[in-house]
Amino acid sequence: MAQKKPDLSIEFCGKKYINPFLLSSSPVSNSAEMVERAFEAGWGGVVFKTLGSDRLRIDHPSPRMNSMTVGTRKMATVQNVEQITDRPLKENLMDLLYLKKHYPDRRLVHSIMGFADKEWEYLAKMSEDHGADMLELNFSCPNMTIEGSGDQAGKSFYDIEHYTSIVKKAVSIPVMAKMTPNITDMTETAMAAKNGGADAISAINTVSGITGIDIDSFVPQPNVFGRGASSGTSGPGVKPIGLRFISDMAKDEKLNIPLSGMGGIETWIDALEYLLVGASTLQVTTGIMHFGYVIVQDMIEGLSDYMASKGIWKLDDLIGATLPKLGKTELFDLDRQGVVEYNLDKCVGCGQCLNVCNDAGGQALKWDDKTRRPELIEDKCLSCMLCSFVCPVSGLIKYKAKPAGWKRNETIIRDPSLEKELKYKPYVHDGDDGCLV
Ligand SMILES: Cc1cc2nc3c(=O)[nH]c(=O)nc-3n(C[C@H](O)[C@H](O)[C@H](O)COP(=O)(O)O)c2cc1C
Repeated sequence: MAQKKPDLSIEFCGKKYINPFLLSSSPVSNSAEMVERAFEAGWGGVVFKTLGSDRLRIDHPSPRMNSMTVGTRKMATVQNVEQITDRPLKENLMDLLYLKKHYPDRRLVHSIMGFADKEWEYLAKMSEDHGADMLELNFSCPNMTIEGSGDQAGKSFYDIEHYTSIVKKAVSIPVMAKMTPNITDMTETAMAAKNGGADAISAINTVSGITGIDIDSFVPQPNVFGRGASSGTSGPGVKPIGLRFISDMAKDEKLNIPLSGMGGIETWIDALEYLLVGASTLQVTTGIMHFGYVIVQDMIEGLSDYMASKGIWKLDDLIGATLPKLGKTELFDLDRQGVVEYNLDKCVGCGQCLNVCNDAGGQALKWDDKTRRPELIEDKCLSCMLCSFVCPVSGLIKYKAKPAGWKRNETIIRDPSLEKELKYKPYVHDGDDGCLV
């Protein structure tokens, strides 16, 4: 008997996607030849490299990227200074027609960026006339810094609403606004897009940053003939920021709009996390720049197996499932505490736990020099978990919840004789200084 398989298809703004995995707008979605190979590998759709009107000549800086290695982890964060497409619009539209003709079951999202009202309108109409299933408005490229472009527009409520409404009036296909993370609150910029008529929001574009500085020449990387710039960073290092902004928007009841999530997705677990915080489609660039289009196969298989193991058969049942459990830190139950627990059968005696516990934790470990094993003093354990992060043996150190009411019981006084010199008096709060708590 054939095994029941979870359904990974999803409806997004009235269009069916065979799976939620899309190439995001970038070098990985630059031509029909590339996207065709991606579709053959299994991607459900593409947001094509951002189209421009050819009015401004686009020259990419050289070199285009820098990569930050963390330990043995290459491309933990990538920094790019790339602009929107440098290909003529006509060539790009012919590529998009080709993809439409040969891959009718895949979704084609045209990413566009104008610099003036008429230009946005022109690009939107061109895209609709050449078979776009949907538009993505690039309000967010941090590398396009001329007036009215990229994340300059994306930081202005007026520009976002204005350009979105111009595009909405020009076309009848759904319109998604791509937001910059280089702000404090994305629910507000997303609301401006919604007020302009946006049908969906995508996020995040790259996070403005500096991944390194050449310590001989003092030039920030990538070193473009003696000059550097804060520019777009992406990849695993930005995933926490992407998850934060998607969940903020998903939780906002007034916003209530479909979301396409990206930022550091490389594995099926990353993908699942974005679904759990409320994204319905998922986009990827840096993961592909590192491992190639083939990663979609692991994402499809991993997500399918996970869903089957949980008895979840529809993607919709996962979307936003984390949100009821995501709140502010003030809602934590602080009456519950725990400590770490060591399985010393697995211990290799490296002592890294001792170092971090002494220098950054609660000094909660005694060390036996003969056996080279730690012994935990529970009353001193902060449950900071640092020892588990540095331990080279997976699963050796775990969190253990203590019964309700258990509290650490510890005082750290270096020299009790100093008490006689103490001038301490307890603070008395008279409550009349505008304090809210
Ligand atoms: C080299 C490079 C070029 C990019 N070009 C574009 C672009 O033209 N338009 C756009 O909307 N986003 C562009 N992006 C941003 C990506 O689409 C994506 O939002 C970002 O990289 C975060 O996803 P990731 O961590 O999977 O790479 C680019 C990213 C990179 C690394």
